[in-house]
Amino acid sequence: MSAAAFDPVARAFAPDALGTTVRVRGWVLRTRSSGGILFLVLRDRTGSVQVTGRRDVLGDEAFTAAEHVQIEGAVAVEGTVAEDRRAPEGREVRASRVEVIDTGEPFPIFTGQTEEFLLDQRHLAIRSQESVAIFRVKAELLRAFREFFDAEDVLEMTPPILTGNAAEGGSEAFQFDYFGKPGYLSQTAQLYLEALLFPHERVYALTPSFRAEKSRTPRHLTEFLNLEIELAWCDFSGLLDFIERMMVDALHKVAERRAKELTALGRPPGELLAIRAPFERIRYAEAIDRLSKLGFPVHFGSDLGTAEERALTLEMSSPLFVTHYPRDLKAFYMFQTRDDPRTVDAADLLGPEGYGEIVGASCRETDIARLKERIGQIGARTEEYEWYLDLRRHGNVPHAGFGLGVERVVRWMLRREHIRDTTPFPRTPSRHTP
Ligand code: 4AD
Ligand code: MG
Repeated sequence: MSAAAFDPVARAFAPDALGTTVRVRGWVLRTRSSGGILFLVLRDRTGSVQVTGRRDVLGDEAFTAAEHVQIEGAVAVEGTVAEDRRAPEGREVRASRVEVIDTGEPFPIFTGQTEEFLLDQRHLAIRSQESVAIFRVKAELLRAFREFFDAEDVLEMTPPILTGNAAEGGSEAFQFDYFGKPGYLSQTAQLYLEALLFPHERVYALTPSFRAEKSRTPRHLTEFLNLEIELAWCDFSGLLDFIERMMVDALHKVAERRAKELTALGRPPGELLAIRAPFERIRYAEAIDRLSKLGFPVHFGSDLGTAEERALTLEMSSPLFVTHYPRDLKAFYMFQTRDDPRTVDAADLLGPEGYGEIVGASCRETDIARLKERIGQIGARTEEYEWYLDLRRHGNVPHAGFGLGVERVVRWMLRREHIRDTTPFPRTPSRHTP
């Protein structure tokens, strides 16, 4: 068959396709043959369809070749779309020609294998119908965010990944040798986005962030996608409003465009459509209160870990903002609350149903003396941050921003037990291959 004019598999299900000839190609999901009839399920990026072929129609040689095709082998088929009540979705392609593109070797993945084995075989396991659905949803989420930023006049930037300082705290940065000097893999693009905000006012970047934490939890990766935004002239309530609008807009778009995948993965799209602004906003002090009442031994100054965050939203179906954290728990660049020096104008957005932090947000400190003091307190040298301090010396204006963990959001949206399901090649302390 010539390479020209193949139809997408989905064409077979168009209302006017019955009785017409289609030419489709793709990979074999299932295969069997009996009594001179070959059954294949063929998939491409648009869907899957049952194909039947008779030995007397295809000819001995082509039939035998097609019979030998393994799961995930590749074939091209020409045939007529017919009704078949036993076929999924009620249609099949009755083949007049089958051409084997790649017979393939026996596919090593089948049901009942261990999680570890599947992670070793991740380069092949990502062909599963479940993985396909997960990464379609993830792509749709990224598309929705980008559409939102376009509509809000926020410009996409391309900050570096290789950096000379560790922005979020030195201990968690991956360090490497940069031609004889220490280099670090970016933990956040924030400081660069802050620099880019002065020429562009509203900027975002979607980049991998790296954290060398040995956290073996179901919500930590050592490499994750960080969606980071920085907005000039933005105050704290404006920041929370922006995040809320962005989340609702993106969740609704994904629910509408990927309803089939969401349903198959155990998240009825209606649950996402039911999420609306405003999200509940509570102060950290109030969160501590709630947690004490639930029996947690916490006091003002306690960090909220996985268990605490989980308890706060376990019964909720919409995200929750926790605001005004103690400043000692948070990063050096966060704006010190002017009427309460113990806290910062920062918020974490917690996913509902106990999924924990999905967004970290704050107003940025504009007072250069306070910034220097905080840099000293975290044990860093101000010289390393001179370029960042320059931003406060030239056109210093109020601004705010946040980072959203894309895999964290997908994990919650798709109710995944482990975050590694939401990235094709997960990086964790115990794994960086394949
Ligand atoms: O809260 P984080 O550490 O904040 C920052 O990096 C800020 N500089 C962002 C900013 O304001 N521009 O990380 C942002 C988000 C978290 O809320 C969380 O969702 C996700 O990134 N995240 C992780 N996701 C997966 N694995 C990890 N180890 C993560 N660490 C943070
Ligand atoms: Mg955080």
